[in-house]
Amino acid sequence: MTIKLETKRLILRPVTEADANDFFELDSNPKVHVFLGNQPVKTISESEAMIANILEQYKNNGLGRLAMVEKSTNAFIGWAGLKYEDQLRKEFNYYDLGYRLKEQFWGKGYATEASFASLDYGFKDLKLKEIGAAADVNHSASNSILKKIGMQPSGTFVYDDELCNWYKLKNPYL
Ligand SMILES: CC(C)(COP(=O)(O)OP(=O)(O)OC[C@H]1O[C@@H](n2cnc3c(N)ncnc32)[C@H](O)[C@@H]1OP(=O)(O)O)[C@@H](O)C(=O)NCCC(=O)NCCS
Repeated sequence: MTIKLETKRLILRPVTEADANDFFELDSNPKVHVFLGNQPVKTISESEAMIANILEQYKNNGLGRLAMVEKSTNAFIGWAGLKYEDQLRKEFNYYDLGYRLKEQFWGKGYATEASFASLDYGFKDLKLKEIGAAADVNHSASNSILKKIGMQPSGTFVYDDELCNWYKLKNPYL
């Protein structure tokens, strides 16, 4: 995959094996995993496996989460974007919008900025019919982002014993 998305402050580019240390810094922070099942990674090999999984998705699905880089510093912020999700909802598969940022980059509007660009890419370039997203009902920041970018609240479901809000949005350009 050679895709590169650019926003005012961010570059979204494919994840590579060279991102392993940054993935480890991101996913070993317990605060990052509060609404993700509270299982931060303990070893770099777990991060390498996560990256291998993303690279596999690029190959099999033609899309996957993208690394988020701060233009002004070239720093690795985290990841964002689309994924073909076949695990989260038992009843159906769908294209999921998601984001995960290192703690020092929270609160700057970066997840929102990356999400707008990801929706645009999914709808205009990939011509996806619909994009979905989920967030723990208690995850205020994520629910706020999903509403702000125009995702439609569409009920709730239970995942891993946690109640989650479900959002979806149809492609407005089709
Ligand atoms: C959730 C996360 C992606 C947010 O990233 P971010 O770049 O800080 O988000 P943004 O700045 O774009 O927007 C956050 C919004 O939530 C609001 N918010 C943040 N913390 C909040 C809180 N504790 N309570 C209520 N609202 C909150 C912000 O005010 C902002 O809304 P606003 O623009 O209307 O003010 C980031 O905290 C993260 O990576 N968390 C760990 C991984 C994770 O939980 N991923 C999502 C799983 S569903």
